Amino acid sequence: METRGIILAGGSGTRLYPLTAAFSKQLQPVYDKPMIFYPLSTLMMAGIREVLIISTPADTPVFERLLGDGSRYGISISYAVQDQPLGIADAFRVGKEFVGGSPVCLILGDNIFYGKLDFLRTAISANKGATIFGYRVSDPERYGVVEIGSEGQIVSIEEKPKEPRSDLAIPGLYVYDGSVTDIATSLTPGPRGELEITDVHRIYHEQNRLHVQQLGRGIAWLDTGTPESLLDASTFIHAIEKRQGLKIGCLEEVALHQGFLTASEYQRSVAQLPASSYRSYCESLLTSL
Ligand code: G1P
Repeated sequence: METRGIILAGGSGTRLYPLTAAFSKQLQPVYDKPMIFYPLSTLMMAGIREVLIISTPADTPVFERLLGDGSRYGISISYAVQDQPLGIADAFRVGKEFVGGSPVCLILGDNIFYGKLDFLRTAISANKGATIFGYRVSDPERYGVVEIGSEGQIVSIEEKPKEPRSDLAIPGLYVYDGSVTDIATSLTPGPRGELEITDVHRIYHEQNRLHVQQLGRGIAWLDTGTPESLLDASTFIHAIEKRQGLKIGCLEEVALHQGFLTASEYQRSVAQLPASSYRSYCESLLTSL
C-alpha cells in the first residue's frame, strides 16, 4: 500500500502571539512562503501523493484556500478539522478514515527540513513498525528526546525531560505502519492533557517495533517555535535561496521533479499564478524542460 502523509497544522501557537492571534502558526511566512509549504514539500520529495492536512476549525478553510485539492501540484490534498488541540497523537483519531490501515508518515506543520532528504524515502520503504529520527541539538529539553545504545537500539524516549539523557531531539517527522491508528486511539491524555506522540512511540517500543535513525549534520532541521527562531528560519532560507538562485519548498518545482506533473501540466499550473517573483522563478524552470 502507498504510504500516505498527514500534516498536523493545529495548535494555538500561543508562543508566537500576537502573530498567531488571527491565523495559525503554520501559515506564517518563512521568508517567501507560508510555513506549511516546507513540510508539504518534504512529504512530496519522499514520493507521497495522498496528503491530509489537519487544522483548527478556523484555519482549515484558509489552508484549503491556499493549497486547494492539490491537483495543481499533481497530488491529492484533503482536510480534516481537529476541534480542540488534543495533542499530536490525536491526528490519528481525526485522520483515522484517511489512514484506513495504510502506512503513514506524519509531519508537524512547523517542522522545516533542508538538505539531503532522501533519508525519508529510504525510511518509508524500509519501515517495519515505526521509525523516528534523532537529531543532535543544543537544547534537547525542549523536545522529545531519544537515547540510543551502543548497538543502535533505543534505550529511552522521553517528552521534554528536565534532565535529558542524550542530546538527540526527535523531530516532528515520523513513519508508521497501519497499526498506528489503533495504538493512538488506545491512549489516554498525559499530564498536559494531550495525547502524546511519545506514548505512541513507547507502545511501539514495548512491542519491539520502534526504530530510530540518526540524522547527520548535513541536514538542517529548523525550529519555528519562537519569534526569534522563526526569524532565524527565514534568514536561513533567504541566505540559501539568494546564494543558489534556487527556491526551497517551491511546490510546483517539487511536483515537476517528482514527475507528479508532466511538463504541460506544470505549464498550466504556473500559468495560474499571479505575477510575482515566485511565478517568475517557476517560469525560469520552463526553459530547462
Ligand atoms: C512536539 C513533540 C516533540 C517533538 C517536537 C518537534 O513538541 O511533542 O516530541 O520533539 O514536537 O517539533 P511541541 O511542538 O508540541 O512542543
